[in-house]
Amino acid sequence: MDVPLLSTRPTPGQRALAERLAGGEEALGAGLARLPASLYTDEGRFTVEQERLFGRLPLLLAPSALLPSPRQATAHDAYGLPLIVSRDGNGRAHVLANVCRHRGTRLIEQDGVVPAARIVCPYHAWTYTPDGSLAALPRPDCFPGLDKKDHALRRFPVRESGGLLWYARSADADFSAVDALAPDMDAFGLSSLHLYRRRTHDVAANWKLIVDAFLESYHVQRLHAATIAPFFADGITAADRIGPHQRAAVGRTDYLAKVNRDDWRQLRKAVTYTYHFFPNAILIVSPDYVNLLTCYPQDVGRTLVEDVMLIPAPPQSEEEERHWQKSWDLLDGGTFAAEDFRAAALCHQGLASGLIGDVTLGTLEHGLADFHAMIEAALEG
Ligand code: FES
Ligand SMILES: [Fe+2]
Repeated sequence: MDVPLLSTRPTPGQRALAERLAGGEEALGAGLARLPASLYTDEGRFTVEQERLFGRLPLLLAPSALLPSPRQATAHDAYGLPLIVSRDGNGRAHVLANVCRHRGTRLIEQDGVVPAARIVCPYHAWTYTPDGSLAALPRPDCFPGLDKKDHALRRFPVRESGGLLWYARSADADFSAVDALAPDMDAFGLSSLHLYRRRTHDVAANWKLIVDAFLESYHVQRLHAATIAPFFADGITAADRIGPHQRAAVGRTDYLAKVNRDDWRQLRKAVTYTYHFFPNAILIVSPDYVNLLTCYPQDVGRTLVEDVMLIPAPPQSEEEERHWQKSWDLLDGGTFAAEDFRAAALCHQGLASGLIGDVTLGTLEHGLADFHAMIEAALEG
């Protein structure tokens, strides 16, 4: 299957990482670093993160491809609030409380994407448009003086850019760091990809242990020896930042051989780009498809991780279906669930025992140290 090329060139940042890869092994940090084990296991710490990170920052909700058409909606509960993500008749995205303004009933009950030209409350049939406005209610004569304009669904700040949908709990959230990602996402054509599969994993680990597993390539040749390791060169990694987000490039095995770095198609085949969207999501760009992992902390030792796979277009034949299914199985089940998430859960077990006071990071694991420093800065800010 050929690489989908919706943009003809990398961004200057993507190109710069590829240049650095060409230099071979790169130590990302100068020396050892240590992190206290309690960062991952302390209940009080978890509560503070919920308030100051998840309560304030823009958070990834879904790829745009989850709602491919106008007048669609889906319930979204994983951040601990009952939300609706919808598109109005013009295709504009909205994030609404999934809570009726009459007496509080949950509006969209089911999982999955539903048609939403109207959102009708199951209790007394108050009816909302997909932008959250109250359109109609039965027996309006029984509500003398009620102004429909004052009874719209509660709306949350939303941003759609670069093929990603974000929201924030707090009304004054700053989305500028989200907008800064758009050129890189556009270089992958993210906004025109098709959602192929979606699965939520229930992982017995602190959310940061799951993110950590995608911020270093040190484990790839070890943990992934039976799955993806043969595709990658050990330690051939480069990383930088886009605001609080991390961008990394990992060289495929044949990287140093014969890649024309001026040819984006060749570069996409030779380099796997990964992004950490601060604080809790990971984008992995394989040569011909994309996985988006979003971590939803449930408690200090439990995280729901949604894996979404995006492909260039819906499969047109059984052969194409088999091709994508094979990629899905390799990454979602074989690599993420059986290896990365399992390692995170084992790590949580060990740290929760209290038998070691800190963890040690080598020079190839500097991405973790950066991530945890960003968290400290955000908690203080
Ligand atoms: S609670 Fe929704 S219409 Fe009554
Ligand atoms: Fe991994």
